Amino acid sequence: MEFREVIERRRTIRDFQNKEVAKDIIDYAIENGFKAPTYNHLRDWDFIIINSLESKLKLIESENLDKSIDIKELENLFKKEDRIMKEMYLDAIPKQKKMIIEAPSVVIVVFKPKTKIGEAKRIYDLNCLASVWTCIENFLLSLAEHNVYGVTFIPQNIEAIKEKFGIPIELEIASIIPIGYMAENAKILKQKTINITERKHYEKW
Ligand SMILES: Cc1cc2nc3c(=O)[nH]c(=O)nc-3n(C[C@H](O)[C@H](O)[C@H](O)COP(=O)(O)O)c2cc1C
Repeated sequence: MEFREVIERRRTIRDFQNKEVAKDIIDYAIENGFKAPTYNHLRDWDFIIINSLESKLKLIESENLDKSIDIKELENLFKKEDRIMKEMYLDAIPKQKKMIIEAPSVVIVVFKPKTKIGEAKRIYDLNCLASVWTCIENFLLSLAEHNVYGVTFIPQNIEAIKEKFGIPIELEIASIIPIGYMAENAKILKQKTINITERKHYEKW
């Protein structure tokens, strides 16, 4: 597949078909993840692949996603925001639980931080987090090549998830990624058009 085609194909999808993703496709995406740049050469990244409903429910419980959502309240909350951003949140927030349950697989991406996130003082202290996200992008692009999509969910209750899944205390979770094939009626939100010419600066700002 052409490079640009893969880049264009990768989109965030929160509505999945009830169809398993072959282990080979996930393994290949993880391999490609490990080709990403990393700040210290060590690539201290781990992946937990979840397929069982039982494990998905553990995630839902840890993240308190079982609460119901008041759409009117949400609309009110975002009423002054950019139209495309508002549309994204109104679609995404109510789907956070559903996407974890319905995705055939959910991948927890774990990394080893150099400095505890709460103690970070400089951008440099966050190099581990930056590195694991380069890995995540490779992972997502590799899945997209096989028509498999994902959504990078960022958990709030990382300690609870670490405990439930036996993740060593010194490690962190970068993202939880439900992955799968796109449902027929999947919503693909419009990407905001950026005037890239205005974003480029030569020699100085
Ligand atoms: C750091 C980061 C955090 C994100 N957090 C969430 C999240 O918690 N839940 C969610 O549904 N989507 C999340 N997303 C997905 C974004 O909403 C999505 O990437 C964005 O709307 C752009 O859409 P696109 O990926 O299709 O271009 C996150 C993406 C990134 C890069």
